[in-house]
Amino acid sequence: MPEPLAMLPPRDTLGRPLHDLRISVTDRCNFRCVYCMPRAVFGPDHAFLPTADLLTFDEIARLVRTFARMGVEKVRLAGGEPLVRRELPVLVAALAAIPGIRDLTLTTNGVLLPAQAEALKAAGLQRVTISLDADDDETFMRLNDARVPVERVLAGMEAAEAAGLGPIKLNMVVKRGWNEHAILPMARRFRGTGRILRFIEYMDVGHSNGWRLDDVVTADEILRLISSEFAVEPMEPTAQGEVAERYRYLDGAGEIGIIASVSRPFCGSCNRARLSADGQLYTCLFATTGHDLRGLLRRGASDEELESDLRRAWNGRDDRYSEIRSAETVDLPKVEMSYIGG
Ligand code: GTP
Ligand code: 5AD
Ligand code: SF4
Ligand code: SF4
Repeated sequence: MPEPLAMLPPRDTLGRPLHDLRISVTDRCNFRCVYCMPRAVFGPDHAFLPTADLLTFDEIARLVRTFARMGVEKVRLAGGEPLVRRELPVLVAALAAIPGIRDLTLTTNGVLLPAQAEALKAAGLQRVTISLDADDDETFMRLNDARVPVERVLAGMEAAEAAGLGPIKLNMVVKRGWNEHAILPMARRFRGTGRILRFIEYMDVGHSNGWRLDDVVTADEILRLISSEFAVEPMEPTAQGEVAERYRYLDGAGEIGIIASVSRPFCGSCNRARLSADGQLYTCLFATTGHDLRGLLRRGASDEELESDLRRAWNGRDDRYSEIRSAETVDLPKVEMSYIGG
């Protein structure tokens, strides 16, 4: 018997399937990175989401079960800083038990990993990606604006590896005038360690980081710099829709990645949905409006209603922000990165 049409994985208006779900579990963070949560905006008076507005773990798990029925195989937990959400391993265990979820990962600034890595691994988390924007304290502390030295993040990496959450990926956002001088030192430090360093072009997410095109150090520039010291060659992409372009060191010291969402947009293969901490569904990182799933859940929607609503939302999707970025789109009231979850 052919499968009923409605049960096939949904495609959006550009034919893209839904494969990844990125979940923000909190909009709070113990850092104030200048490109994400600038202190002038996210200061003592900033109103974070009240606890009652956050999706409960049961609500998140129910949504993920629905997404899994629609073809989602990969779930990434993010924030804000996901590890500041209390009892996160309880959520991880619930998600790890959902049939169809093959890849369960988390993006963190690493500082809370020494206390939590083992519990996360035991709960079923597979890997972590850790952000580190420079390997010297002066540059890193200027960027994180929370007086956190590099050593604390390195301790987080070690804890993750010791707990079996490796191989780990490292994210370095490059912002001109702030940390491009740390590109080569970071490459030197992490080549040959098994940790995969990815350089990320600074993006115009949200509307509070004051992004300007001139602040972007492009993939070409980053590659030229790396190649001035190390011979690298491009690698085949691994998973379908992967955001990082991969390069291997010819001397066998491992690989690096470049995430060039500004200079080389990858919307054509974008199969990612995003769920905010308060249960809004966004079909693009640069969205201005979401789709209220929490309301649906709390009004007592059935599983069938939930699924048909999600299918409708994905079927109607036409986002390709990075491909149509312009002087006008930069000023749109886009949702903040800490809210929507990287
Ligand atoms: P893996 O595929 O497991 O390697 O994870 P990832 O690279 O998707 O996750 P991570 O959270 O480490 O994201 C790395 C960077 O890519 C972050 O700056 C994200 O904001 C950015 N990114 C991820 N997905 C998208 C996307 O759909 N669009 C854009 N423009 N940027 C994205
Ligand atoms: N541009 C690019 N990357 C960003 N991140 C946060 N804000 C930005 C931005 N404006 C990165 C974080 C983290 C990942 C989820 O997204 O450093 O590594
Ligand atoms: Fe926090 Fe990550 Fe944003 Fe930095 S980039 S402020 S660590 S959520
Ligand atoms: Fe996907 Fe939007 Fe990023 Fe394009 S800009 S890759 S559509 S999230």
